Amino acid sequence: MRPERSAPMPQGTPPIGPIDHYWADEASRKLFVRDLFDRSAPEYDHVESLLAFGTGPWYRRDALRRAGLRPGMKVLDIATGTGLVAREAYAIVGGTGLVVGLDPSAGMLECARDAATGILVRGYGECLPCRDASFDFVTMGFALRHVADLGLLFREIRRVLRPGGAACILEISRPRSRLASAALQAFMTRLAPLVAGRAPRRAEARTLLKFYWDTIEACVSPGDVLLALEAAGFPAPRRGVVLGIFSEYLAAREAGP
Ligand SMILES: C[S@@+](CC[C@H](N)C(=O)[O-])C[C@H]1O[C@@H](n2cnc3c(N)ncnc32)[C@H](O)[C@@H]1O
Repeated sequence: MRPERSAPMPQGTPPIGPIDHYWADEASRKLFVRDLFDRSAPEYDHVESLLAFGTGPWYRRDALRRAGLRPGMKVLDIATGTGLVAREAYAIVGGTGLVVGLDPSAGMLECARDAATGILVRGYGECLPCRDASFDFVTMGFALRHVADLGLLFREIRRVLRPGGAACILEISRPRSRLASAALQAFMTRLAPLVAGRAPRRAEARTLLKFYWDTIEACVSPGDVLLALEAAGFPAPRRGVVLGIFSEYLAAREAGP
């Protein structure tokens, strides 16, 4: 289903509106985000598992399969973090395929190193250190809210995809109903940190989940994400929704040169 869209977006669109209490400008935003993920890297898988009731790996693999990932493909996983999407991609593409995980956070990449996901590269989605048309498939899990600019990111994804290649971008979106939105906020910012474990772990989980929720709330609409994909040159991007909150953006590069 395609959601209604707001007015066309200019090029150069941040994925979230201003949340000024976290940073003053783009340079400090970038540092804040990198520092947050560096610090919370050792807790990330635990917090993710709490949030998803342990279904995260299954959901990621299922979403990738439904999006068309097949054995033998070459995959770039942007914002790989601790490797949760990369691991599932690796399980699908197998030994004849390849998975490259990219992330700006050294702390996250350090945790991903244990996960046998293939090659790991430090970098930003908006400026990919990859050759043109070098991947069959690009994935990005739950990180759209952290890039500087959707247009830059999507043009880079299109550039590194071979003609006919496809991208699958997973993200949490704010539920449409106010009640569901309030329930999700309470779960993420109050309940989940409470059961996160001992005090230091609880404090890190609370910070991460508060930021998680604030960026979900400030995120541009799914319709605007689709518009930005179209503006970047993807002819017919689509969005699927699971349980009202898990957005799956699918975009294929046209098959010609
Ligand atoms: C919530 S984690 C997602 C990890 C993993 N993909 C998953 O499915 O759980 C967000 C990741 O995005 C990374 N990130 C932040 N800004 C980024 C950017 N501009 N380009 C690529 N990755 C970025 C962070 O370092 C962090 O590892």
